[in-house]
Amino acid sequence: MTTHNNLTARDNASIWHPYTQMKTAPRPLPIVRGEGVYLYTDDGRRLLDGISSWWVNIHGHAHPELNAALAAQAAQLEHVLFAGATHEPAVALAEQLISILPAGLTRVFYSDNGSTAVEVALKMACQYWQNHGKSAKREFVALHHAFHGDTVGAMSVSELTGFSKPFDKLLFPVHRVHSPYCYRCPLELKRSECSIDCLGDLERVLAERSNAVAAVIVEPMLQGAGGMIVWPAEFLSGVRRLCDKFDTLMIADEILTGFGRTGKMFACEHAGVSPDLICLSKGLTGGYLPLAVTAVTERIYEAFLDDDRSKAFFHGHSYTANPLACAVALASLGLFRKEKTLERVGSLERQFGRRLEGLRGMSVVGDVRGIGGVGAIELHESLTRRFAPPSPGGRGSSPQVRPSPSGRRWPEGPDEGSTSSGYFSSIGPYLYDAFLERGLLLRPLGSILYFMPPYAITEQEVDWAFDQIADVLRDLETQ
Ligand SMILES: Cc1ncc(COP(=O)(O)O)c(C=O)c1O
Repeated sequence: MTTHNNLTARDNASIWHPYTQMKTAPRPLPIVRGEGVYLYTDDGRRLLDGISSWWVNIHGHAHPELNAALAAQAAQLEHVLFAGATHEPAVALAEQLISILPAGLTRVFYSDNGSTAVEVALKMACQYWQNHGKSAKREFVALHHAFHGDTVGAMSVSELTGFSKPFDKLLFPVHRVHSPYCYRCPLELKRSECSIDCLGDLERVLAERSNAVAAVIVEPMLQGAGGMIVWPAEFLSGVRRLCDKFDTLMIADEILTGFGRTGKMFACEHAGVSPDLICLSKGLTGGYLPLAVTAVTERIYEAFLDDDRSKAFFHGHSYTANPLACAVALASLGLFRKEKTLERVGSLERQFGRRLEGLRGMSVVGDVRGIGGVGAIELHESLTRRFAPPSPGGRGSSPQVRPSPSGRRWPEGPDEGSTSSGYFSSIGPYLYDAFLERGLLLRPLGSILYFMPPYAITEQEVDWAFDQIADVLRDLETQ
C-alpha cells in the first residue's frame, strides 16, 4: 500500500495541479477511497465531502448501481467515434434528457465538460445567425459575477478576474450587465422595495445592440463561482422576456444548477422558462465521468440543415458521447426516479434554511442564502478586513486573528473565480484548514462559505456539518 508521504512526494515530482501555485501550495490530500458522502485519505482520515467534489457528485461516491452500470457498459463497448457512428447509451440518454428538459429543447449535442458545453453554445449561437444571413449578430451579453469555464470563449463571457487577466488580450469583448445580487444590490435598492430594476441594464444593452447581439448567457437562479448568488425568479423570467423582445438567443448555463441542485431538475423551471440553448455537465453523470450536453431547440437545429455542407456545425471532440459516461448518466437518471432524489433535495433545502437562519444573527455573518442543495454564508466585511493580506509595503493589515493553522495558501480551484468574495483575503485558507481539522471538506469562495454536499447526505450528517460551521464561526466571533 502506498504510504501518505510516498504518494504526495511522487505527486510533487510529477504532477501539475489545476489552479495551483505549485511553488507554495500545500501537499494535496491523498485520497484513496470514496463511499457515500465520505472521502478517505491514505493516512486514515475520513472527510465529509461538503462540496460534492467540485459540485459534481449527487448520489454519493461509489454508488453500487452506478458502479454496476459502468462495469456493464465497459464489458460491452468502451468507446467509439461519434461522427458517422452511434450507440444505444447516447441515444437513450438524449431521449431521456429531452423528456425532462424544459419544453422545446429537442436536440442534444454532446461534448466533454462544462467549458466545452459553453463553447459549443456560443459557437452555435454565432453560427445560427450567420446561417440565417445575419452575420452582424455575433456579440454576447453576460452578467457580472458570471463564471462559465476556463476555455477562451467561456472565459470571455465570465467575469474578468485575476485568473483571466494573463489572457485578457485573447478574450473577445462582451457586454456585461447587472446581476440580481440582492445583498450587494448594484442599484443599492432593497429587495422588498424593488421591481427587479437591475434588469434595466440588460434591457438598455439589448435596445442599443439588438442588431449585433447573438445571445445572452446566464447561470439561472444561482451564480456559483461568482459568490453563490441566489436570484429572484423574476429576474430569470425577465431575461427570457427581453431576449424575445429583442430577438436574441438565451443560453442557460445549467452546468452547476442542472440535475436538482436548486431543488428543481433544472433551474429554469423556477421561472417556468425555456432557454434556446442549455448547457449541462457536472451532475449529468452523477459525478462519475466527464460528459457534457448542449441541448437546443428545433429552430436552432434546423438553421444548420442545408444542402450546403458549410452550414453544418463543425465542432467535435475525440470522446464525444463516450458510452461509459452516457451509461452512468442513464443510471444516474434512473436513481433520481428510484430514490426520489428531488424530494430529498427539497428536505435538504428546508433543513439548510433552518440551520442558515440560526446563523444569521452572528456578528461575523453578513448574509445567509440558500436554494435547493446549496447553503451559503457571506461573512461580514469587517471579518474580511481583519484577514486582509499584508500590503506590499509590509505595513498595514497584519491579521488580528491567528493565521491559517498550517500557514497554507488558499487552495485554489475554479470556484475561485469569485469577484465579490475578497478572494485574496486569508479568511479562505483559515476556514479551509479549520474545517479540515474537523473532518469537513469545504472550500470557501473567499469570504463566502458554502455547503453543497452530495444529495445522499443524511439529516444527521447535515446537522453535524452545520454544527461545525457554527462552532468555527463562533470561534471567529470570540477572537
Ligand atoms: C456555471 C458553470 N459553468 C461552467 C463551468 C465549467 O465547467 P468545467 O469545470 O467542467 O469546465 C462551471 C464550473 O464550475 C460552472 O460552475
